[in-house]
Amino acid sequence: MDTKNRQWLLASRPRGAVEESNFRLVETPVPALQDGQLLVRVHYLSLDPYMRGRMDEAKSYAAAQAIGDVMVGGTVGEVVESRNARFARGDLVVGMGGWQELHVSDGKGLTKVSRALPESLCLGAVGMPGVTAWYGLLEIARPKAGETVVVSAASGAVGSVVGQLAKLRGCRAVGIAGGPAQCEHVVRDLGFDACVDYKAEGFREALEAATPSGIDVVFENVGGRILDASLRRMNAFGRVALCGLIAGYDGQDISLKNVRSILVNRLLVQGFIVSDHLAKWPEATKELFALVADGKLRYRETVAQGLESAPRAFIGQLRGENVGKQLVKVAT
Ligand SMILES: NC(=O)c1ccc[n+]([C@@H]2O[C@H](COP(=O)([O-])OP(=O)(O)OC[C@H]3O[C@@H](n4cnc5c(N)ncnc54)[C@H](OP(=O)(O)O)[C@@H]3O)[C@@H](O)[C@H]2O)c1
Repeated sequence: MDTKNRQWLLASRPRGAVEESNFRLVETPVPALQDGQLLVRVHYLSLDPYMRGRMDEAKSYAAAQAIGDVMVGGTVGEVVESRNARFARGDLVVGMGGWQELHVSDGKGLTKVSRALPESLCLGAVGMPGVTAWYGLLEIARPKAGETVVVSAASGAVGSVVGQLAKLRGCRAVGIAGGPAQCEHVVRDLGFDACVDYKAEGFREALEAATPSGIDVVFENVGGRILDASLRRMNAFGRVALCGLIAGYDGQDISLKNVRSILVNRLLVQGFIVSDHLAKWPEATKELFALVADGKLRYRETVAQGLESAPRAFIGQLRGENVGKQLVKVAT
């Protein structure tokens, strides 16, 4: 029986970039379970850019985290004790356990997952990021075979799935990523047709060369000058699935210049939040699961070791140091 838990709390709100001092590690006793509750030992914690938004007080689609609360986060782990009829000891469950080693749940929002694939995948390609890619690309942008799809943050958890799904639908997939190693990974390992380095000189010209027939679909994860460069290349009746604006999460200016393209090209620009579309998750995860199992959807993970590494890993992720899904392995 576990008696002690370790948790990362939000200690203060960042001013600009996140710092380690914005978090506080505490040890707390594990409360006795009430009827209907279960105790989960976290195996993996998912680190995601949305957490940066929750650390701020600004109005957003979800409420800000309160100072002193356990940091919010998706987790996969094992039920170690249960007084809930729906869950038994040994079940593998995915949910929003937060930045901690153990979490008590009443079962709401927890889903049992199979052990047929590595468990970390239900936080990545077969979990929230994968569903985000699937929903934004297939339900909003709806690419047709032969069209050119551009995705920013292409080596990340969402972008890596977007480009591969676009290829599977017969499109030309062009990634945008930072640095030659990331771009090489996107083309060589993930099978995109091209990847453009936004950190290199001549980024706009390189994007032009990689999209000789213009752009039909943008799956946008970054915003600012990167989205602007894509807007310049849009074809008539193109679609922009606006998924994230990571270039502005620390309060940077991400204003656009090429707004005229939306009018003259009659573009559809639609923002979306994947948690608004829970009804689509079973269909999406079924397809993503099958693609991974068949070796048709490749993925990469960056895994930080131990709960104590979570703030450092999160700061690194916001600087683009991860390749693929950023995880923390919490239990050994
Ligand atoms: N709408 C939704 O429901 C939803 C759901 C999930 C995620 N999202 C959004 O989707 C985006 C990607 O998420 P993810 O889980 O794939 O994240 P991720 O795996 O952490 O990848 C993010 C990548 O973004 C790139 N990046 C960071 N700062 C950048 C900047 N200033 N300019 C250009 N690129 C930058 C970095 O790659 P490089 O090495 O290439 O710089 C980084 O590795 C985020 O904006 C996130 O908020 C939205």
